[in-house]
Amino acid sequence: MNMRLLKIYLTIVSTTIIISYGTAQSITIHADKPTVNLSPNLYGLFFEDINFAADGGLYAELIQNRSFEYFPVYSTFNSKGHLLEPMYAWEKKFVDGADGHIYVSRSLPLNANNPSNLELVITNNNGYAGVSNTGYDGIPLLQGEKYNFSFYCAIQKGDNEPMYQGKKIQAYIEDENGDILDFVEWTNDKINIGWTKYSHTFSPKHSTKKGKLTLLFHGKLNVKFDMVSLIPQNTYRGHGLRSDLVTALKDLKPAFLRFPGGCIVHGSGIENTYNWKETLGEVEQRKPKWNLWAYHQSFGLGYYEYFQLCEDLGAEPLPVMPVGVSCGWMKYECVPLNELDNVIQDALDLVEFANGGVDTKWGKIRADLGHPEPFNLKYVCLGNEEEDTPELLERFPIFAKAFQNKYPEIKLLGTSSPGDDVPLYDYMSKLGMWSSDEHYYEDPSWYIKNQTRFDKWDRTKAKVFIGEYASNGIKLINAISEAIFLTGVERNGDVVDMTAYAPLLARYGNTQWEKANMIYFNNEKVVLTPNYYVQQLFSLNKGDVSLKNELQNWLGDEVAVSTTMDKSSNEIIVKVVNAKSTAFTLQINLEGINKVAKEGKLITLKGERNDTNTEQDPNKVKPVTSVVKTAKKFNLLVQPNSLQILRVVSGK
Ligand code: AHR
Repeated sequence: MNMRLLKIYLTIVSTTIIISYGTAQSITIHADKPTVNLSPNLYGLFFEDINFAADGGLYAELIQNRSFEYFPVYSTFNSKGHLLEPMYAWEKKFVDGADGHIYVSRSLPLNANNPSNLELVITNNNGYAGVSNTGYDGIPLLQGEKYNFSFYCAIQKGDNEPMYQGKKIQAYIEDENGDILDFVEWTNDKINIGWTKYSHTFSPKHSTKKGKLTLLFHGKLNVKFDMVSLIPQNTYRGHGLRSDLVTALKDLKPAFLRFPGGCIVHGSGIENTYNWKETLGEVEQRKPKWNLWAYHQSFGLGYYEYFQLCEDLGAEPLPVMPVGVSCGWMKYECVPLNELDNVIQDALDLVEFANGGVDTKWGKIRADLGHPEPFNLKYVCLGNEEEDTPELLERFPIFAKAFQNKYPEIKLLGTSSPGDDVPLYDYMSKLGMWSSDEHYYEDPSWYIKNQTRFDKWDRTKAKVFIGEYASNGIKLINAISEAIFLTGVERNGDVVDMTAYAPLLARYGNTQWEKANMIYFNNEKVVLTPNYYVQQLFSLNKGDVSLKNELQNWLGDEVAVSTTMDKSSNEIIVKVVNAKSTAFTLQINLEGINKVAKEGKLITLKGERNDTNTEQDPNKVKPVTSVVKTAKKFNLLVQPNSLQILRVVSGK
C-alpha cells in the first residue's frame, strides 16, 4: 500500500470509529455509587413432588409402589394415562409349574399406616411363584455399585399349620434380557408368624438401564410380603437422595429451599393436605398419600430428609405450612374453625422439631432420628397461592398470631394469591409478614415488560418473595427473558428478597407440568435447561450491592443490564442480556475507581432463539467462559440472544 492510499484508509477507519462511537450504545457504571444492598437470599430453589420429582426422582428408592399402597388416581394430569392400582409396577410370576394366585390383601397389615400387602398362595410344590418390580421405567443398576435390598415377610397363624419348613425364598436382579445380575436365596428357613425383615446387599455383575427385581417363593404355602425396597448405597452423603440430582441443585448455590411444594401442601381437599408429622421415622411407618399430581407419595423423602438436604445444599429451609384451607384450584375445603387449634399446633410443632432442644418433645424426636443439633429454621411460609376468600381471611390471621406470639424470631412468609395482580399483598403487609409470595407463569413478553415491576415499589410494605416463576418454555429465548426480568430484580434487590424458578425437576415421560421445568432427568441422565444456566449464572454472580448506571443510545427493553459489586473480591459485575437476534458493541465506562485489572472474566450463554437442551442433545446451550481485555473504558461485543456476565476487578 502506498502512503497516499494508507492515509485515505486511516481516515476512513478513524471516521468509522468516530461515527460508531457517536451512536454506539454505552453504559457508565458508577462504582462509588451503590444504590441498594442485594438480599443475601435472592436466588433459591422451590421443590415440589410434581413430575415424579421425589418418588422416582430425588428419592433414590428404585422400587415403585414398594408397599402396594397405590390406588386409582384419575386425573387429567396423568399424562401417561396409566391407571394406578395396588399392583402397579409389579408383574406376577409363576415358573416351572408353580400354581396358585397373588393378590393385594389388607389382612395382617404391616402397621396401621401401611395396610396393604401382597398375598401369595402357592397350591403345589412345583417351581417358584412371586413377583417382579419394574421400577420407574425400569431399574437402573451399575456394575461396581452396591444395592441394599430388603422386604418384610409373614405367614398368618392358621394358614400354614404345621409350621412350614425347608422351603425357599429367592430374590434376584436381572437386566432387560433376563440375564441375572445377582442372586440371593434363603433356604431351610422358617417363615415366622407375624412380620420379619429380610435384607441382602446386591452387587450387579454388569450394568443395565432397564433392570427388574424379582422375589420368588418355592413350595406349597400361603405367604404375605410388603415394603420391598432396593436402594443404592451410593446416595448423596449417604442421605438417601440421588447424587447426580443433588449435585445439580448444589451447583446452583441456592440460598434457600422452599419445600415440600405448592399445591401438594394445601392439597386437594383437607384429607389430602400435607402432614409433616406423617413423614418422619422408619419408612415403613410413614403414611403414604395420593399426590394431587395424579400419582403417589411414599414420603421416603420426608421432613427430616428435607432439612438434611437444606444442610447439604447450604440453603435456608423454607417449609410451607397449610393454613386450614385446601387448594382452591382443586377441591376447596376448610378446616372448621373449632378444629383449627390442632392444625396450628401441628405447624408450631415444626419449629420445635427444627430448633427445639433435645429436652423438648419434638427436639428429642429430631435427636432420635440422628440430628441432635438444631436445623436453625428462620423462616416459615404460611400457605400457597391462597385466594382472598372469606374462609382464608378468617383463618390466616389466627395462624399468623400464633406464630408471632410463640416464635417472634421466625420470619413469616405470606402469600399474595396466584398470579401477578397480588390482591392479598397489602393484607399480608398489615399482618406483619416479612415478605409475601407471588407466582408468575407467563410468556417471555411478560418478563421483558415486567423488568421494571419493582422500580417504584412501596418500600414500607412487606418484601416480595417470588416463590415460583417461569416463562412457559425451555428455549433459549425463554431463559433470556427470565434473565431480563432478573436484572430488574437485582436493581430492586432490597425489596425483592427471594426468588425461585418453578417447577424444579421433571422426569422425562412423566411430566404433569408440560411447558417448562428447570432440570429434566431419566434413570441415567440429568439434563440442564438454558433456564437452569440463567439461574446458576445469576446466583453465582450476584454481588452484594447494586451500582448506579447510565445508559446511552439504548436499544429498547429487549436489552437489559444489571451492574453490581462483589465487595469481598472488589469486582464489578456487569450482566448484559440481549433478547435481540443481532449483535452490537457496548462501550463500558467505569467511573468512581482508579484502577482496573487488565483482564476480566466473561461468561457467555448464547445460541439461536429456539435452541434448547434435550435428552438426545443435552449440551447444546451451555455457558462458556473466556478472558477479555478490560480498562476504565472498553468495548464489549454483545452477542445475539445472549446473557453475558463480565467480572472486572477494580481498585481505588
Ligand atoms: O409449580 C407447579 C404449581 O404451580 C405449584 O404447585 C403451585 O403453587 C402453582 O400453581
